[in-house]
Amino acid sequence: MLKLPGLIDPHVHLREPGGTHKEDWDSGTAAALAGGFTQVLAMPNTQPPITGNDELALTLAAAARKARCDYAVYLGAGAENAHDLPALAPQAAGLKMYLDQTYGPLRLDEMSLWMAHFENWPRHLPIAAHAEGRTLAAILLLAALYDRSLHLCHVSRREEILLIRKAKEQGLKVTCEVTPHHLFLTEDDLPRLGNGPGEVRPTLATRRDQQALWDNLDVIDCFATDHAPHTLEEKDSANPPPGYPGLETALPLLFTAVHQGRLSLDDLLLRMVANPRRIFQLPEQPETWVEVDTDVRWEIRARDTFTRCAWTPFEGMPVQGKVRRVVLRGQAVYQDGQVLARPGSGMNIRDRNYRLSSKP
Ligand code: DOR
Ligand code: ZN
Ligand code: ZN
Repeated sequence: MLKLPGLIDPHVHLREPGGTHKEDWDSGTAAALAGGFTQVLAMPNTQPPITGNDELALTLAAAARKARCDYAVYLGAGAENAHDLPALAPQAAGLKMYLDQTYGPLRLDEMSLWMAHFENWPRHLPIAAHAEGRTLAAILLLAALYDRSLHLCHVSRREEILLIRKAKEQGLKVTCEVTPHHLFLTEDDLPRLGNGPGEVRPTLATRRDQQALWDNLDVIDCFATDHAPHTLEEKDSANPPPGYPGLETALPLLFTAVHQGRLSLDDLLLRMVANPRRIFQLPEQPETWVEVDTDVRWEIRARDTFTRCAWTPFEGMPVQGKVRRVVLRGQAVYQDGQVLARPGSGMNIRDRNYRLSSKP
């Protein structure tokens, strides 16, 4: 049995408000605990999107009632809200900028809008960007011009990771994350997944791209799931939404890579605990740990998961290492396939009282 710190996922989509048939704060945070995550940062592309005080309050109220692990919520950069967001910044996980087309209406096209957010959002607080390919190059220029930190979400291509390497070498304050699906799947998996279920942004890449991520592991600061649940009915429809669930499969997949010698345990913990904590300025959780049975070999099965979307792109994949028990702030919150935390026991990491309280 291996004892790990509680894992941190800086990139999840929990779908409440507006998409609770896919996931809600209860099912999504149950999935987090089952996957060994005790802190999650939730994205703002909900319905309505979280672009102001009212939507943030609505979302935080749902989370306060239902969350089973600790959490914070991002604000979404919009065309009109650059001046209003700084006042809300202390309550948020960070600012999320959508610069390429993906799920939801939050995409910002004009670079002058990007500049407005860089000028207004507090310098010392996180900005995370969905930016692919040349869009990534463009937003890196802004990070350089404004001399501020920037976190790049779900890097998936060789040209992107090489550009980020160069940016880091030049001293830019840039960090990045990679998802398990881009580390363990490629476009060769699309026939098996089917066109609709296979949809994801960034799309699955070539083997060469995938190899470049493994070869440039030292440039990757975080592993983040981009847990993006949609139902199979939606995925099989004429207009399939992009995204894969990932909270319950990330640790088994990455732990299997540790077992195979592709990754060290320190590499894993740096990217799933220490780096996300530093980049997103998250407090340590007292008396919090994850017990992993390192010897168990098993196959990933959607029927054993807690995510409401009820499928996984890793169905049937053999893995080694299983989360047996999770303790959060002194309480057993998951044990052997059972989520024990009650809805509402999770705490808002950005709440002023977060550090003062300890028991869930
Ligand atoms: O595949 C994706 N799904 N990529 C994104 O950027 C958004 C996400 C979602 O919210 O479904
Ligand atoms: Zn994204
Ligand atoms: Zn995402």
